Amino acid sequence: MPEEKKLVKVTIDNITIEVEPGTSILHAARQIGGEVAPPAMCYYTKLKGSGGKCRTCLVEVAAGSAADPRPMPKLVASCRTNVMDGMVVKNITSDRVIDARNGVVEFLLINHPLDCPICDQAGECHLQDLSFEHGGEGTRYEFTRRTFEKHDIGPYIQLHMTRCILCYRCVYVADQLTDKREHGILDRGDHSEIATFIEKALDNDFIGNVIDVCPVGALTDRTFRFKNRVWFLKPMDAHRDCPTCAGKVLLWNRGDEVFRVTARKDQWGEVIDWICNECRFEKKLSSDWIIEGPTTINRQSVISQGHYVGVHKPKEFLSEVMDGRDPRILLDIHEVSEVNQTKVQLSTLPHPAHSEDFPDKPTQQVTVGKPGQYLINKRTEKN
Ligand code: SF4
Ligand code: FES
Repeated sequence: MPEEKKLVKVTIDNITIEVEPGTSILHAARQIGGEVAPPAMCYYTKLKGSGGKCRTCLVEVAAGSAADPRPMPKLVASCRTNVMDGMVVKNITSDRVIDARNGVVEFLLINHPLDCPICDQAGECHLQDLSFEHGGEGTRYEFTRRTFEKHDIGPYIQLHMTRCILCYRCVYVADQLTDKREHGILDRGDHSEIATFIEKALDNDFIGNVIDVCPVGALTDRTFRFKNRVWFLKPMDAHRDCPTCAGKVLLWNRGDEVFRVTARKDQWGEVIDWICNECRFEKKLSSDWIIEGPTTINRQSVISQGHYVGVHKPKEFLSEVMDGRDPRILLDIHEVSEVNQTKVQLSTLPHPAHSEDFPDKPTQQVTVGKPGQYLINKRTEKN
């Protein structure tokens, strides 16, 4: 009979739980869940050696253990500190922690641009969420921010180093998932940057996973860049029989069009099963996949906009109160919108969408109708 492990007791934000010895404070807090779990920008459960770089997960240890209940003098990184029996930890109940976290976010934002409106990561960016909760209104930084040129590192991935927070996750992915790592962090201090040694391409079978682990928009999918906003897409669980990976993915659809394919993530934003490049970049047709159904999205996420499952629509009463008549249609946006042309498959364009990709756009719009009649919009044909 296997020997039962003796559990240790830890109290985090006044909630006491029992966990296995060797559990980190972060994982213990995640077992409680909700806001008690500190944010983590560099730690990643599946990546060995990750954590300890960003300091967003700092917590206060008010009592070290039952045997030695003295508090720890400094805040500690919860992803790298293990629990002890009788430990008392404060996260959101500590003003020191909140103050320190605000400071960490201010540091992270020193060089990170606030270009969320045009960044592909917007809506699923951990730094965006963190700044929303802990960011200040302005900056105290007076020096020139460092900026970098964008680099295509291979056919599918673009590196926008200006947005990188040097969390090392992508380096660990390349190290631990692929046979040959071609990129890493070069130089030191504020000169540090993610780079390939001599403009090399990242082309290993599983290298696309660096896009999923990047907490910000520094590594983006070139097949999806500027094609759509994530909150306009509908994420669907899907799978295929893949010889290389588990083949369990999320399809980001708009109608039947697959805009991007990503790995599925758990509630902490960490990948559940790594996926291969073929599934991610080359299987962009609905027919390539067996669709399981809409994925469950956190209701707090902007991605959940309009994607609720099991919603009962209210009864349509407009025509009832109008004695069976249709409402007056002044403008049908689907008729006149230049970007809703079903003939143009945005997801298959080899570049970000541009006005030239919509050759059938209307040249002139005419509104016809007389008072008392329904107004309709007609397009004139292009000559
Ligand atoms: S590119 Fe992204 S994943 Fe890589 S170190 Fe920078 S922030 Fe982290
Ligand atoms: S998540 Fe703990 S230091 Fe980054």
